[in-house]
Amino acid sequence: PLVVHVTGARPNFPKVAPVMRALEAAGVEQLLVHTGQHYDEKMSDVFFRQLGIPEPDVNLGVGSGTHGVQTAKVMMGLEELFTERQPALVVVYGDVNSTVAASLVAAKMGIDTAHVEAGLRSFDLTMPEEINRLVTDRLATLLLTTSSDANVHLGNEGADPQAVHFVGNPMIDTLLSNLERYDTEAALASLGDQVPAGVSGGQYAVVTVHRPGNVDLPEDVQALVRSLHSVADRVPVIVPLHPRGRTRLQEAGFMDHENVHVVDPLGYLEFMGLVRGAALVVTDSGGVQEETTVLGVPCLTVRPNTERPVTITHGTNQLVTREGVAEAAAAVLERGPVTDHPVPPLWDGHAGERIATVITGHLGIDG
Ligand code: UD1
Ligand code: UDP
Repeated sequence: PLVVHVTGARPNFPKVAPVMRALEAAGVEQLLVHTGQHYDEKMSDVFFRQLGIPEPDVNLGVGSGTHGVQTAKVMMGLEELFTERQPALVVVYGDVNSTVAASLVAAKMGIDTAHVEAGLRSFDLTMPEEINRLVTDRLATLLLTTSSDANVHLGNEGADPQAVHFVGNPMIDTLLSNLERYDTEAALASLGDQVPAGVSGGQYAVVTVHRPGNVDLPEDVQALVRSLHSVADRVPVIVPLHPRGRTRLQEAGFMDHENVHVVDPLGYLEFMGLVRGAALVVTDSGGVQEETTVLGVPCLTVRPNTERPVTITHGTNQLVTREGVAEAAAAVLERGPVTDHPVPPLWDGHAGERIATVITGHLGIDG
């Protein structure tokens, strides 16, 4: 039986790596699809190289577009591929448009799907990701969860309890298995003169922002820039910037502060090197909330809600408003480094193996 993995956007890549590795060890026949949703070398190729993910067998090359166009292009490409290859199972990751597109196509063709990172809920339907999560989970055959709150949500929505498996977090498998490769000073050095000499571990903040809710409307961007400039009044702020917000942030004068250092999106190892050595992270990313929790780096999430509440209850994460960033950052910087940090259950580096066990069990192969 053939297992097809569908990936397409940056957060998918660290998740697929440990799952493919574990299924490979179990001798399962696999095919890796890249939809092409993300295509810049720094949003895509670098992850395959650094994380040892096999070259995709198929790249659909869908590229950017409106939600309708992008989702439809992925669906058209996958329908043709699934017709030709007849997978026994399609594995989808997270909550991006490529994920929901694959789920819709597979479900209508009667092909089973496994959703890695099932059951997360922000309960905020203004987020495209929440729509993608709801649809993907409703259609999935196997619901593989990273935290117990996800099991509760799926139960409340009427999912078959037999379909739900709490397997842990494959993003954290990747984080932990590469731990000795994160070198803060090397990551800073790799930025060359984009960051002033003399900035070193423990002395700077890392910022990532890309959510439509923060970077699409000029008034939101202006509020965010004012707050981040206040952070930059205290510490150097290093910003590996997603392409989505670049123009609006620039127009709002974000880059004009001498302590704001905007750089291109970073490779995984360089990014983790920077995050590991940061005094503070300010983000609206999903994955970064999880990574900072495990690394014990204080994280301010600029969002009204999170689908990852364990990063607050068990971790270092805190929700802040755009206006509240400066004050929260000041408090974190005064408090100093986190010393005691529990890690959420099953974020232990072995989610990939547990996912492989569920999948091989489902396919009736001896894993
Ligand atoms: C997507 C996901 C989001 C995830 C994010 C991670 C959806 C609905 N959103 O958002 O959940 O958090 O990825 O990074 O799937 N662009 C480039 N180069 C690229 C890719 C994109 O320049 O390689 C630019 C294009 O202008 C594009 C814009 O970024 O229009 C948005 O890309 P898209 O994939 O539609 O959504 P993201 O904002 O990246
Ligand atoms: N990441 C990276 N370089 C960067 C920014 C992010 O390697 O410059 C990694 C990091 O591991 C993060 C993942 O990409 O968890 C996905 O991040 P993103 O914010 O794009 O997606 P989200 O998790 O919000 O969907």
